[in-house]
Amino acid sequence: MTAPALTRPRLLGGPPGTPFAGVDLASHHGRHGPLPAAAGLVEAVRAAGLTGRGGAAFPTWRKLATVAEAAARTGRDPVVVANAAEGEPASRKDRTLLRHAPHLVLDGLRLAASAVGARRAYLYLPPGYADGMRAALAQRQGSGWDRLPVELVGAPPRFVAGEESAVLARVEGRPAVPADRLRPVAESGLRGAPSLVQNVETLAHLALVARHGSDWFRAAGTAEEPGTFLATVSGAVARPGVYEAGCGVPLAELLSMAGGPAAPVQAVLVGGYHGVWLPGSRLDTPVSRAGLAPFDGAPGAGVVVVLPDGACGLRAAAGIVSYLAEASTGQCGPCRNGLPVIAQEFAALATATRGSDRADSGSADRPVDPARIDWLARLVTGRGACRHPDGTARLVGSALRAFDGEVRRHAAGACTEGSAA
Ligand SMILES: Cc1cc2nc3c(=O)[nH]c(=O)nc-3n(C[C@H](O)[C@H](O)[C@H](O)COP(=O)(O)O)c2cc1C
Ligand code: SF4
Repeated sequence: MTAPALTRPRLLGGPPGTPFAGVDLASHHGRHGPLPAAAGLVEAVRAAGLTGRGGAAFPTWRKLATVAEAAARTGRDPVVVANAAEGEPASRKDRTLLRHAPHLVLDGLRLAASAVGARRAYLYLPPGYADGMRAALAQRQGSGWDRLPVELVGAPPRFVAGEESAVLARVEGRPAVPADRLRPVAESGLRGAPSLVQNVETLAHLALVARHGSDWFRAAGTAEEPGTFLATVSGAVARPGVYEAGCGVPLAELLSMAGGPAAPVQAVLVGGYHGVWLPGSRLDTPVSRAGLAPFDGAPGAGVVVVLPDGACGLRAAAGIVSYLAEASTGQCGPCRNGLPVIAQEFAALATATRGSDRADSGSADRPVDPARIDWLARLVTGRGACRHPDGTARLVGSALRAFDGEVRRHAAGACTEGSAA
């Protein structure tokens, strides 16, 4: 089921480039109205069908309920963490949200804290955004209107630093490295306290559900995947940027919002570096979990990258695979032993054409074999402390499928980009 693009954005007001300092509390209240109390919020979020916008699309009400229940059962004070790490290199939506709607994020943080009974909150964000958010917090607390103590914690610019156990490690003052957890962080997270880790876009949606209700939220998106999402559209489009659309928007419509393709589309990466490649012939695909399921994909954090005709998809994918291999924290076997080999073999596949493959592959007596890369990718899946190997394997498998023509061209001694390596 597809949903039309949204005519009026909900989260992002004003034209791109609106200065951060212009988003003051009075204009925020003028646009969105006063903030209601959190009573009945969990039920409203459940009825709205809001899911996390940080990548995994977990039902938000369930996390709220689990944290509140764990706090009541254990007697421990819960905490709430707003996750704006945005470690994904092709994503700009969380940064854009902090710039354009800082008070919407802080409204969501305050409401979520209230709903689970937390008296402390943290905002985990790229250091360059701390001054602006500190100013927004000062406006709220200076007027006595919002008394929730919010501590800002700097997120290192690394892909895995936004994974929730890495987030909590950093908030505890340790390196932002994911951990193998026996219990969900909602039950036992920050120093053992029930912890709600929520993406900042999710919190902004939550602040609007509290104001306008679940029916309003469901007026955009599909019945199964309601609401809007922020997409970062880049690559070969006329106006790269962050756009808000209803969940289930056809890919072609999303590209139109970004000014349309700047060249004939060969393929589109949907869902970011842990996402999947779709062939350019499938721009009718709805950007939703249901729409992307046949490709083994999901919208993730809303990243869309357009690859034009004339580019070598294998080379584009190889750059990402090698980035992901280096982004691991090297703690677990699949990342330490598997990803570097996959990246090396993928790079060899991307650069090698017949006659040059042996020299470039790093394995002097064996030509590059895509089936072996696919096998290695399957081998690392499900075996890490976090989902980084799984996401990397998904990207690798989808690239091999989407660019199978390029694999054959390379095997025949040619490359779309025309230059034998
Ligand atoms: C490798 C990895 C990186 C992640 N990076 C981010 C991130 O930068 N920002 C984010 O909000 N969630 C990120 N997540 C997802 C978080 O673990 C967590 O699910 C999310 O913050 C929960 O918020 P949500 O339910 O509102 O989406 C990442 C997950 C993985 C496995
Ligand atoms: S799976 Fe990889 S990225 Fe995740 S904790 Fe283990 S080594 Fe680090």
